[in-house]
Amino acid sequence: MGKITRSLEELVGNTPLFEPVRYEENHKLLSKVLVKLEWFNASGSIKARAALNMLVEAEKEGKIHPGDTIVEATSGNTGIALATFAAARGYKFKAFLEDGSSQERFDILKAYGAEPALQSDIPSIKALMDRDELSMDGIIEGVRNYSEEHGYYFINQMENEHNPEAHYRTTGPEIWDQTDGKTDIFVAMAGTGGTLLGTARYLKEKNPSLKVVGVQADEASRIGSGSGQDAIDGVAPFRNVPTRFTTPFMLNSGDQYDEVIEVSSLKASQTAKELLASDGLFLGSSAAGAFTAAEELALRPENAGKNIVVIAPDDGTKYMSLNLYK
Ligand SMILES: Cc1ncc(COP(=O)(O)O)c(C=O)c1O
Repeated sequence: MGKITRSLEELVGNTPLFEPVRYEENHKLLSKVLVKLEWFNASGSIKARAALNMLVEAEKEGKIHPGDTIVEATSGNTGIALATFAAARGYKFKAFLEDGSSQERFDILKAYGAEPALQSDIPSIKALMDRDELSMDGIIEGVRNYSEEHGYYFINQMENEHNPEAHYRTTGPEIWDQTDGKTDIFVAMAGTGGTLLGTARYLKEKNPSLKVVGVQADEASRIGSGSGQDAIDGVAPFRNVPTRFTTPFMLNSGDQYDEVIEVSSLKASQTAKELLASDGLFLGSSAAGAFTAAEELALRPENAGKNIVVIAPDDGTKYMSLNLYK
């Protein structure tokens, strides 16, 4: 039997690049929009790439040994990916989820054998929340101190260079090969910023005139906006927001993207539903947001005939409690 896969780690990367031709026709797009289907990674999202690379490199550097406990602050996909690969390598895994995360996310992590907790369970983070002073730095510091106190290893996707490096090593080269070196515009939303920065760095080295477009949710489509609209999940804004909410990678990355497009969750939902009907493409919420921005680019006359590559971090299955497909 020559075609049996015995480790899920072999099923990370080499995801398809899909062109929704019917949607392109229906909307008279002037460019091709090519969607990188990242739910084809083992564990179901793009975060498999970063999680596996951070784990493997920490092992190589002697920072972790089987039996150790790994800790991460995550809203979902990184947690699921770490739970998947950590267990197989003999590690325990504890995930601190954002307050307000759905019950679904706790249940999924528990099913994977991880130990989910709330960020507000850490007293220093709770104190920041109570004073309305929560920041990325505050979360990182709180989880770092908690890990040190317990002798755990904080893998820290927000600052771990092996996160963007995974995309520099794999996502970027895959896109370049799949388009035969004809990638003109690269589009992605950002959570930690690892995908956007690592992939962009590789593609820009190959094609210095490549345009990188970062996508963020508009104000009404962010967690805690009070608009009553869904938030676009798993991502953070990085332009024109107080720096305390910006991830460390995005804070120092102004030169890596050329434009920022803001999208609304309402428009993203409309796009997602149409794509599902026209091409059977079942996008998650940040994928729908990124595709919505790619469509805007594909309607600009100056982009006629170009290839736009857009990242779809996960599919729609984890978003059924939102209005994305209602
Ligand atoms: C659904 C979803 N979209 C986008 C991202 C952004 O990925 P990155 O952290 O590489 O910026 C994440 C990250 O967790 C995610 O879960």
